[in-house]
Amino acid sequence: MKEFIFSFMVLLTCATVNVAFPRANYTILRNEILEYEQRLMIGANLTLNDIERAANKVLMKVKKEELNAGFKNLSRYAPARNFLAVKEDIERSKVFHLLRRMPKGAVLHVHDTALVSGNYLYHNITFRDNLYVCIDKGVINLHFFRVPDKSCSWELLKKVREDPERAEKVNKMIRQRMSMECDDPASAYVDVNKAWDKFVNIFSFITPLLTYKPIYEDHFLRGLEELYEDNVMYLELRTTLPTLYDFDGTKYKPEDLVDIYQSLTQRFKEKHPDFIGVRVIYAPTRAAGRKEAEYYIKTMKRLKTLYPNFMAGFDLVGQEDLGRTLEYFADLLKNIGERNINFFFHAGETNWLGTSTDENLVDAILLNTKRIGHGYALPSHPFLLELAKKMDIAIEVNPISNQVLRLVDDLRNHAARPLFSEGYPVVVSNDDPGLWGARALSYDFYEAFMALMSVHADLRSLKQLAWNSLSYSTLNNSETQKALDIWERKWHTFVKDIAYDNSQLNRQRTTTT
Ligand SMILES: *[C@@H]1O[C@H](CO)[C@@H](O)[C@H](O)[C@H]1NC(C)=O
Ligand SMILES: *[C@@H]1O[C@H](CO)[C@@H](O)[C@H](O)[C@H]1NC(C)=O
Ligand SMILES: *[C@@H]1O[C@H](CO)[C@@H](O)[C@H](O)[C@H]1NC(C)=O
Ligand SMILES: *[C@@H]1O[C@H](CO)[C@@H](O)[C@H](O)[C@H]1NC(C)=O
Ligand SMILES: *[C@@H]1O[C@H](CO)[C@@H](O)[C@H](O)[C@H]1NC(C)=O
Ligand SMILES: [Zn+2]
Repeated sequence: MKEFIFSFMVLLTCATVNVAFPRANYTILRNEILEYEQRLMIGANLTLNDIERAANKVLMKVKKEELNAGFKNLSRYAPARNFLAVKEDIERSKVFHLLRRMPKGAVLHVHDTALVSGNYLYHNITFRDNLYVCIDKGVINLHFFRVPDKSCSWELLKKVREDPERAEKVNKMIRQRMSMECDDPASAYVDVNKAWDKFVNIFSFITPLLTYKPIYEDHFLRGLEELYEDNVMYLELRTTLPTLYDFDGTKYKPEDLVDIYQSLTQRFKEKHPDFIGVRVIYAPTRAAGRKEAEYYIKTMKRLKTLYPNFMAGFDLVGQEDLGRTLEYFADLLKNIGERNINFFFHAGETNWLGTSTDENLVDAILLNTKRIGHGYALPSHPFLLELAKKMDIAIEVNPISNQVLRLVDDLRNHAARPLFSEGYPVVVSNDDPGLWGARALSYDFYEAFMALMSVHADLRSLKQLAWNSLSYSTLNNSETQKALDIWERKWHTFVKDIAYDNSQLNRQRTTTT
């Protein structure tokens, strides 16, 4: 830090009288202040080597071009508008293409049945054999059967699709019920509650579709495939551990599902040795009463004993404003924290300061949560923020989720911005990409890089984000080191490719002119 600004800061913190800037050289002081602020930003501690600096030049050139275009004409700036309306714009962005190639580390906040892109659900899963459809009072339902039950007038979907007229109608209904995507999101989802109604409705539609065991397995593997293609190498998956079904009436217990995740992960790793793995965060609903909560906690303890490494920990899910508070469960939860069971609570996913949802942040911290899901309200709580910082609790920021679920419209107003500008340990994640037309992690990285961070945030900030995602995972020290080693090799290739592509491009330009 520059001498003058430093002594001035000391003066400010000690002074009990008014302090004013001295009449020193204005330009120099101004630059020192800007520099000092940039030293606080996420990634500012990192030093880039020559190749990284060359890659950074390429990245910052396109970033500034795109931001400039948006500054001149806001309709060319995607983060200001709902993701549901600007997905294609993002896909045309050069910054986005670079982010897709970047080794991003881990996804630490995503939910099992929303892991996979909607296109796969529609184009692949709804075209499988044995899938039945029933339209009951205008509401479409899907379920796999060997022989359909009597709960609805089920028809084989394949058969229905043989009739072009019925196919068109039924396909449209399916597409509408499985995604938040629509032409005019602002009027379709006027507020948080309307958005959540639709969101919950999608889950109730896709759950019977996805919990047919063979489908659940394919879906999970497909999820890993999509993450891997997007250069993500590790996953901590939140799951309600839903009860699977098959045609033999087998009763699958929570441990059976964990066992399935574990063996499929193993299979995936054999095919992709540079994929580090998966761990599971058991995350049942916060709508539970005391009895159910006791059952969930008992289940968690049993799973932790059976799969001590694979089970990362515990969380509660569902719309926080409507569900039960963490305080309601606190006496049940506070003792299991001591049994080596880590917490990863969703908390403060709200715009209502001072409400019980907001105060969930107090309980999450008091219960020694390892990370906070969303923590949207945290930057408005100076003391909680200070505590979280001292306790080194990472915040899982999910930009698109917060926008689609209507906490914020223009992502330049996202509450987590100060966390990025003061180098707080944040990770960027994707929450439910399958429900809003996204895929894997890059879209959220794009929004974070272009809207939640400063114009000046560069390759160092992105590198820090990837590093955070592995360091704030549940991997132990030696596992983290191993993951970081693999990641570094990928990173080196990534920056070399970008710097090289660019020098090739320049060479072509010089030879053709
Ligand atoms: C202030 O510093 C800048 C940069 O060193 C210099 O160009 C400028 O002449 C100085 N201004 C004054 C009034 O001394
Ligand atoms: C702003 O950008 C949009 C989208 O590219 C374009 O249709 C519109 O004509 C632009 N407006 C101005 C004033 O350039
Ligand atoms: C669905 O995906 C699986 C791989 O998960 C593939 O083997 C199969 O051919 C696909 N089916 C359709 C109808 O696209
Ligand atoms: C840089 O490192 C120091 C020392 O570890 C730490 O206190 C500070 O928060 C870091 N700053 C950033 C922006 O990461
Ligand atoms: C970290 O985990 C590995 C298994 O992946 C284990 O072999 C090692 O002992 C663990 N290290 C510590 C310090 O717990
Ligand atoms: Zn979530």
